[in-house]
Amino acid sequence: MAPPPLRVGLGERSYPVLIEAGLLDRAGEALAPYARGGRLVVVSDETVWALQGERLVAGMAAGGVEALPILLPPGEGSKSWAALEALLDRLLALGIERKDHLVAFGGGVIGDLAGFAAAILKRGCRFVQVPTTLLAQVDSSVGGKTGINVAAGKNLVGAFHQPSAVLIDTACLDTLPIRQVRAGYAEVVKYGLIGDADFFAWCEREGETLIAGNPGARQHAIGTSVAAKAAIVAEDERETTGRRALLNLGHTFGHALEAETGFSDRLLHGEAVALGMALAFRFSAGRGLCGDADARRVTAHLAAAGLPTRLGDVGIDAPPERLVAHMKHDKKASGGRVPFILARGIGRAFVDDEVALAEVEAFLDGELAREPA
Ligand code: NAD
Ligand code: GLY
Repeated sequence: MAPPPLRVGLGERSYPVLIEAGLLDRAGEALAPYARGGRLVVVSDETVWALQGERLVAGMAAGGVEALPILLPPGEGSKSWAALEALLDRLLALGIERKDHLVAFGGGVIGDLAGFAAAILKRGCRFVQVPTTLLAQVDSSVGGKTGINVAAGKNLVGAFHQPSAVLIDTACLDTLPIRQVRAGYAEVVKYGLIGDADFFAWCEREGETLIAGNPGARQHAIGTSVAAKAAIVAEDERETTGRRALLNLGHTFGHALEAETGFSDRLLHGEAVALGMALAFRFSAGRGLCGDADARRVTAHLAAAGLPTRLGDVGIDAPPERLVAHMKHDKKASGGRVPFILARGIGRAFVDDEVALAEVEAFLDGELAREPA
C-alpha cells in the first residue's frame, strides 16, 4: 500500500509530497487534477527524458493525461537567462495560462529553472515537481526556492514559488550515476547533522545500503529528509528567522570550494556540501563547541560514503585568503558578515553570524597544511 503523503504546511499554499517506488507508472492518477484539457507541459533534460521519459509518458497516459515535453540540455548551463528566455517563449507559444501547471521532471537544475519560469510566467502560473536525482528528492524539490545563475554568481536571480505537489518516485534513482547518488547522499546526512542524531546514527548503519539502492532504505531516508525539510520550511519559508538557514550547513565552506573549482563537474554541489560539513564540524571542534570525537565521526562517515572530507581530496590548494574572498561573495553574506552554520554536537547545528573571517582563514591554513587522511 502507498505510504500516506507528507505535507508542507503553508496554510492555503500547503502541498503534498508523495514518496513511492514506481510512482511514475501511476503519474496520470497523481497529475490528472493539475491537467487542463487532459494535457500537461513537462519540462525535462535530454538525459532524464531518454532514461525515464517513456515511463512518465506511459504512466501519464494510463491516467488519461497527455505529456507535452520541452527538453533542455542536461547540466548547470541550463540554469541561464538564455535557457529561461527560450523556455518562456515556448510556454507562451503553447498558450500556457496562469492557472495552468508545468511539470518539472529532472534534477535540481530542471526544478529550479522550470520553477522560476512558473513563478514569472504571466506573473505566476503553477507547477508540480517530479524530482529524479537524490539531491532533488531530498532537498531542492521541496521548499519553493527557484532560480537561475547569472554572470555575478550562482542562484542570484530567483523567486520563492512553492509547487502544488511533489511526486517522488524513488525508482528513478535506479538510472542515476553512482557519483550523483553519493553527492545527493550528503544532503541526506545533513538532516541528521542539523537536528536528528538518531537519523545520523541510522545513516552510519544503513547509508551504504541506501547508496546501493535498497528500496526500504531509500524510502526511509527520503521520507525522513523530506519530513525534516518540510518542518523547517513551514516554520521559516523565506529564511527570515534563521531556522531555514540551518539547511545551509556546509554550504558557506562548500560555496567557496565550488567557486574555486568554477562550479564545474570537478566538484558536484553535494560533494562540496559534504566537504563543507566536515570542515564546519572540525571548525566547531577547534572552537571548543563540539568534541573532536563528533568531528571525527562526521568525517569518517562521509569518507566511508565515498565523499570528499579534506581539501586535498579534491586537489584544492588555493591560498586561504582566496577561499575566504569567495565566501564574501556568497549571497547569504550581509553587511560584510558571512553567516556560518556551526555545531554543538551531532544533531545540534546553529547559526553563528559573528565568526571572524580571519579565524576562518587561519583554520583553512591549518587544513591545507594537513596531510590527507
Ligand atoms: P542536475 O539537475 O544537474 O542533475 C545531475 C545530472 O543527473 C544531470 O546530468 C541529469 O541529466 C542527470 N539525471 C537526473 N536524473 C537522473 C536519473 N534519474 N537518471 C540518470 N541521470 C539523471 O543536478 P542536481 O544535483 O539534481 O541539482 C543541482 C542543482 O540544484 C544546482 O543548480 C543547485 O543550485 C540546485 N539546488 C537547489 C536547491 C533549492 O532549494 N532550490 C537546493 C539544492 C540545490
Ligand atoms: N537548500 C536550502 C533551502 O532550501 O533552503
